Amino acid sequence: MADLAEVGEIRDIACEWYTNVGNMFRRIRRGMGEVDKESGSNICVTDILAVDTLAPVVISGALAGETCLEKAVGIAAMVRTEKLPMEEIAARLRQELGVRVAVAGVEAVMASLGALTTPGVAMPMAILDMGGGSTDAAVLYPDGRAELTHQAGAGELVTMLIEIELGLRDHGIAEQIKRYPLAKVESLFHMRMENGQMAFVEESIDPRFYGRVVMLTGEGMIRLEQDIPMEKIVQVRREAKRKVFVTNALRALKKVAPDHDLKRLSNVVLVGGSAEDFEIPDMLMEEFANYRIVCGRGNIRGSEGPRNAVATGLVLSYIGERQW
Ligand SMILES: Nc1ncnc2c1ncn2[C@@H]1O[C@H](COP(=O)(O)OP(=O)(O)OP(=O)(O)O)[C@@H](O)[C@H]1O
Ligand SMILES: [Mg+2]
Repeated sequence: MADLAEVGEIRDIACEWYTNVGNMFRRIRRGMGEVDKESGSNICVTDILAVDTLAPVVISGALAGETCLEKAVGIAAMVRTEKLPMEEIAARLRQELGVRVAVAGVEAVMASLGALTTPGVAMPMAILDMGGGSTDAAVLYPDGRAELTHQAGAGELVTMLIEIELGLRDHGIAEQIKRYPLAKVESLFHMRMENGQMAFVEESIDPRFYGRVVMLTGEGMIRLEQDIPMEKIVQVRREAKRKVFVTNALRALKKVAPDHDLKRLSNVVLVGGSAEDFEIPDMLMEEFANYRIVCGRGNIRGSEGPRNAVATGLVLSYIGERQW
């Protein structure tokens, strides 16, 4: 990753054949080649994010499927094709929905336009769009200039790291662990929150949760079936988020900042699904404070929170084009 940061703009990353990573890249290329038949050999990997992790490995010869943790590396790749079959998708949508469908916009620019509808936000501004597959950053200037970048790795990679490091073998549970804070129900009338606070309740807690680690969803609790200490889960969860989002936020913003100097950015609007996370924005705020950058969640159209930035930007640009 250190070397990657030094090399400037990347056009394509190739791998040594017959290695784990080489096979992974071959699979990616083959998969994308099937989706986009026209691109052929023009499928490029323009960024990777590699993070250290631990993966349970089955001990050979073990009688009860015992595993032990071994060092592993999680990798996300940003793949670009000549042109995705967008026109085909548009044609199909047109046919199924009976409405006019057009292909338009550059995702990060549209996200910036959408982010501008956050009350109090003005140009020049930087956005960080933290999605499922990629972390995108853009800086938009009042004269219409824009600097963009797409970095590999976002919410899905965090979920995968949680799933693997805790040995859950269940993507759904890993996704829930990512989204909700934890507590341990210590009696029918009180629980210990993950930050150490005690919370007392008026009405008795359902006995099914007694003595268990639960996720606090806002609409009740979900019991964790796996027998893993709460502290361990919190540590793995926070570490996974930090490894992916703090790393990627700094990488992405450095790419788009004037002279690649983070100190020249003053404020950053966070958008995308992962900006809804209950702890990622705080982690970023802490990190950005070192560069005197102020960051905060977007509130698209003053009502939507950090979601819908791209959709809002697309509508705005469509209306704008028609008015000119
Ligand atoms: N409340 C939440 N807390 C944490 N993560 C969340 C929450 N809601 C959604 N996410 C995460 O947001 C991600 C999806 O975000 P989004 O919808 O912005 O992605 P996308 O635009 O489809 O992907 P991309 O921009 O990478 O192409 C998923 O990884 C999901 O787990
Ligand atoms: Mg997105």
